[in-house]
Amino acid sequence: MNADDFELGADYAAERDAGDPLAHLADRFYDPDDEWYFDGNSLGLCSADAEAALDRAVAEWKDLAIRGWTDADPPWFYYGERLGDRLAPLVGADESEVVVANSTTVNIHTLVGTFYDRAEGTKIVVDELDFPTDHYAVRAQLRQRGVDPDEALTVVESRDGRTVETEDIIDALDDDTAMVFLPSVLYRSGQLLDVAAITEAAHERGILAGFDLAHSVGVVPHDLSRHGVDFAVWCSYKYLNSGPGAIAGLYVNEDHFDARPALAGWWGHDKETQFEMNPTYTPADDAGAYQIGTIPILSAAPLAGSLEIFEDAGETGLAAATDVADATPTDAADAVAAGIEAVRVKSVALTEYLVFLVDERLPDCEVGTPRDPERRGGHVAIEHPEAYRVGEALKERGVVVDFRPPNVVRVCPSPLYTSFEDVWEVVEQLKRVVENEEYEEFETRGGGVA
Ligand SMILES: Cc1ncc(COP(=O)(O)O)c(C=O)c1O
Repeated sequence: MNADDFELGADYAAERDAGDPLAHLADRFYDPDDEWYFDGNSLGLCSADAEAALDRAVAEWKDLAIRGWTDADPPWFYYGERLGDRLAPLVGADESEVVVANSTTVNIHTLVGTFYDRAEGTKIVVDELDFPTDHYAVRAQLRQRGVDPDEALTVVESRDGRTVETEDIIDALDDDTAMVFLPSVLYRSGQLLDVAAITEAAHERGILAGFDLAHSVGVVPHDLSRHGVDFAVWCSYKYLNSGPGAIAGLYVNEDHFDARPALAGWWGHDKETQFEMNPTYTPADDAGAYQIGTIPILSAAPLAGSLEIFEDAGETGLAAATDVADATPTDAADAVAAGIEAVRVKSVALTEYLVFLVDERLPDCEVGTPRDPERRGGHVAIEHPEAYRVGEALKERGVVVDFRPPNVVRVCPSPLYTSFEDVWEVVEQLKRVVENEEYEEFETRGGGVA
């Protein structure tokens, strides 16, 4: 799809919505009244499905109490593994390679630590536009091993302050590199990195490759096993809509099931013998080993409901994409795999349309996200010198976006609940704010959550 395929006007947006096979899914989400919500890349909306799954877990707690660990559906004892099974098709992995556990930052600590211990070489390659927690955790892991992060961290620089070039990443790999650890999508500009090419280049040099998928899981399909990615982490409160601080997910390639987790805990112990309470730690022989403490069931349950929406997206998306009567996926895993493909098709169309409208309607703003959809995740960075105040003025108008310093308003059309009409409307609101300089009425930035 290119810019020539789009037209201006609310009628055109309504027509696109009428032809959108995923449009009906929006009804399953709670959308705060009188708001255009474009912040799903920070916190996804609550769905009736997520709420029902949480209610189910609470009901099981009431009815079963301690017996929930064995008698709930699925038993809480295996809840992390079973959710991992259901997530695996979203990231293109085997069920045994995925588990939900901990938070993203904790998972970075345990996986970077584990794989660093396993790798040859001393350096870790990151990039200068990473989300800060990734650098904090990597540096801490190096320090804990007596390695000076200022020496061992190779930080790939951006040429334009927005994006990172694959060739610059590859050029940074040398004989002393242990691993690359990079995001799949940069949190500010929304650039989608080439996970396959980076992994291949790393492996050719005997280097391990890990990724932070926080900004791509649930909006961009992945093929982690096929590409041989060594490990990955992600959160489920963005495009997976599982609630503030929801449990995170992780992937470990099966070739590494013999590794010893850097952060050991009883929940990652081999399940068969966990309750023998042996003081010697025997890790599970799959990704489950990277769980640490008891799974927080109430922070995990909403994800079980959210995944049902991806299954439905797969069923409706597939049926719309083909006339073949037997297009219905045969099982839940196929449905989730088809669901993420359908979500990506809609996401690309929405961001493409948003970029088109910014170009056409907002001459004072610039698009900071790559224009090639193959290099773009689920959100668009709209740049303006007064981005912070523009964001504040938009909030006043009922448009929820976020600001990232120094000059970016991040606008996220989350494909499960955002319509083309929403996108049209948001750009119209932005036009009023910018053209009439409505942002002048707002204070310049203090501190706090943006
Ligand atoms: C790329 C990336 N990694 C990690 C995090 C946060 O990790 P945690 O859930 O541990 O706070 C974020 C939060 O937005 C993020 O964007």
